[in-house]
Amino acid sequence: MEKKENMFYVFEGIEGAGKTTLIKILEEQLKSEGKKVMVTSEPTGKNNSFGTAIRKLIMEEKTSALTEFLLFSSFRSKHVVQIKQWLKEGYIVLCDRFIYSSIVYQGNVGKVDINFINQVNEYILKDLQPKKIFLIDVDPKIAQKRNKQEKDKNDKFDLAPLEFHKNIRKNYLKLADENLNFKIIDGNKTIEEIIKVITLNL
Ligand code: TYD
Repeated sequence: MEKKENMFYVFEGIEGAGKTTLIKILEEQLKSEGKKVMVTSEPTGKNNSFGTAIRKLIMEEKTSALTEFLLFSSFRSKHVVQIKQWLKEGYIVLCDRFIYSSIVYQGNVGKVDINFINQVNEYILKDLQPKKIFLIDVDPKIAQKRNKQEKDKNDKFDLAPLEFHKNIRKNYLKLADENLNFKIIDGNKTIEEIIKVITLNL
């Protein structure tokens, strides 16, 4: 049987990088070209009640990075099954955050053992690999300003100090350097320019 082309794309970046807006525009563009597109995210999924409940727990409870990782992972283990099904049905899947958020937020910054994180992720993903991970890279100061303008953006990660976001960005860039599937996108460019670069790299 002919092997299906991998159409799983992940978007990563610090808070306020503009991922969600970009994904929405990309979704509309691809759909206007007649393509089947499924947009999803972690930790919420596609309006998933389990994901929404997990997100609420993570944001409202004071927990350790390890507990956060296990909670993000519990949703991910469900989400991966859905993603595989969508890919099988021929959808292009655009996912706002994935395992790389766990590696950077809970691993590099939260100090949960990276080997443990990688093992859990490998166990959950099995043969699922994104074709490309777009890292939307912006200056944390600019991102923080953008974030403050959005009223609903006030969860515990959004509210973390600038140093935290600088640290997250540094680790994302390091991860992107070590992983050939990453494409770093300059998030300071205009939306049109960014979409053009992403489209060329799909
Ligand atoms: P959310 O508001 O749902 O999405 P976003 O910030 O991408 O618009 O916030 C999710 C937060 O959870 C975000 O700050 C990053 C964090 N996160 C982790 O720390 N680890 C993870 O594995 C994932 C998926 C997210």
